[in-house]
Amino acid sequence: MASIEEETIAPSTEKKYDILEDLPGVGPATSQKLQEMGFHTIESLATATARELEPAGISQKKALDVIRLARGSITLSFVRADELVKQRENILRLTTGSKVLDDLIGGGMETQTITEFYGEYGSGKSQVCHQLAVNVQLPPEQGGLDGGALYIDTENTFHTERIVSMAKHLNLDPQLVARNIIVAEAFTSDHQIFLLENADLVIKENNIRLIIVDSLTGHFRSEYVGRETLAMRQQKLNKHMHKLIRLARAFNTIAVVTNQVMSKPDVFFGDAVHPIGGHVVAHTSHTRLYLRKSARGPVRIARLVSSPYLPDGEGIFKITQNGLEEVGEDEKKRK
Ligand SMILES: Nc1ncnc2c1ncn2[C@@H]1O[C@H](COP(=O)(O)OP(=O)(O)OP(=O)(O)O)[C@@H](O)[C@H]1O
Ligand SMILES: [Mg+2]
Repeated sequence: MASIEEETIAPSTEKKYDILEDLPGVGPATSQKLQEMGFHTIESLATATARELEPAGISQKKALDVIRLARGSITLSFVRADELVKQRENILRLTTGSKVLDDLIGGGMETQTITEFYGEYGSGKSQVCHQLAVNVQLPPEQGGLDGGALYIDTENTFHTERIVSMAKHLNLDPQLVARNIIVAEAFTSDHQIFLLENADLVIKENNIRLIIVDSLTGHFRSEYVGRETLAMRQQKLNKHMHKLIRLARAFNTIAVVTNQVMSKPDVFFGDAVHPIGGHVVAHTSHTRLYLRKSARGPVRIARLVSSPYLPDGEGIFKITQNGLEEVGEDEKKRK
């Protein structure tokens, strides 16, 4: 159900604004305050709530006006259900580099949603992220989005060498490809939150079409230990995920998060591993993929565990020096 606040803010279609200072009623002081709070762009204001703007020292009425004008300035806004069909037309798709994986998720990764890859150590989550950061730069006819990638790296796993070999394999200029990936290293969970809260301008200025958080839960898991910290951890994770969704929608980008698993010794049947993050992560990720190693070295098994409109399913791909690749027919037969 839409909140009263959302209903009161009908998007204005009269005028388009490009920068904060253009908005009527936003002077240099307010603009600076808003930017300090992480709202550098019209897009991020368009997906803000009036309460979030309170610390900028503006009245609720003025906040609602500003949000309404911002919403009228971007193509995406809060719409009636019949217009949702139109909104879905804006959705773009990106290839993972593996046809099997693309088919599993209905034809590639989607903009405006969060896709989560979870799995054990070495299952290939970060490799997939690297591959996506390269592929997003391909032209649309090759399955790319002609855009850049923002890689929020929380475990120091980003490797330029991997980008170089994947780019070479696709006949792309490795240096250009590396230039179009903005890497932000997050040192703590709070730093990770801060980076995303302030990512809007970087996204806009660099034509970012893919936002990666690798890993989403690593810092949270190591910093919030013990039952008494659980509520706070979940609350922060929830806010972080919602910021990610809002950025993905406002800028029509793909959002990818990775997540580790923990084993549940009390489970006797079915899968004994569970992704970290509980209900918060489960409910805010739109598409969840579980990656597993296989007995055959480079081969990985991907299982679609949750999707808004696709049936669950499984597929295999492999990770080589070239990146994500198809498993050949002869390789499939080999035991
Ligand atoms: N250059 C390469 N050539 C072939 N395979 C590679 C190469 N680099 C990495 N790999 C494969 O990818 C694996 C590492 O996968 P990755 O780092 O994506 O795991 P992960 O799921 O992110 O793990 P973690 O939970 O520790 O972050 C290696 O064990 C190896 O099998
Ligand atoms: Mg990793």
